[in-house]
Amino acid sequence: MREALWNRKDQQRIKGFLENTRRIYQDLLQIEMKKSKKEVKKIRHLKQVIEELYEINRSLQVKTYLPAHKPVCEDLTKEGRKSLLKSSEKNRDILDFLLNHHHKLHWQYGYEKLPENLEQNFAFGEVLGAAAPMGHKKINMGFVLLSPDTKYPKHIHKGVDELYLNLGGVCKINEKKVFHGESHHVVPGLPHDIQTAEDEMGILLYTWIFTSGKSGDYEMKFSNYKK
Ligand SMILES: [Fe+2]
Repeated sequence: MREALWNRKDQQRIKGFLENTRRIYQDLLQIEMKKSKKEVKKIRHLKQVIEELYEINRSLQVKTYLPAHKPVCEDLTKEGRKSLLKSSEKNRDILDFLLNHHHKLHWQYGYEKLPENLEQNFAFGEVLGAAAPMGHKKINMGFVLLSPDTKYPKHIHKGVDELYLNLGGVCKINEKKVFHGESHHVVPGLPHDIQTAEDEMGILLYTWIFTSGKSGDYEMKFSNYKK
């Protein structure tokens, strides 16, 4: 493992990234609170993440983790710049962080046996989590990258309450269109898949809350895949 992978300047950027993400979640919360038909569980997720991010950032510990790359990361710079043009100022800061630091993250597939076509077209990289550069508490947070015209197959996380924030092109989560800057909540145990647009890469920020309150306590299953 190389020394000073996340240097002092990077660490300041991580703090900025967490603070920006917290502000975005606060904005998302405001949007949800104004809706006449409220998604109570989504509101609870947003509130919890806002609280956790505040706590994590107050005593941030950055641990160096060995980076790992995947082929889909190669497309990030070009596609990420396209997404930047569409971004509001706050989302722009998150994308900037991703574009400047993706080579330092530990990108993974999360499968023992990868479904066809995903090797070149998918990866996720944690920012808060077991393979992440930071200490964490009850939440995981990271990025999902998907090539254009790619389906991330139906999966279930038992014990995980999940929120996706779309930072890339329009994608469909369980057939529902999620536009750039919009979020989508997935209750624990609900099967869900993600389909990207034909000509735009999928760049999503995800947050996980472990329902048992214990970090890393979950089970993940893919419905079209047998070990
Ligand atoms: Fe998921």
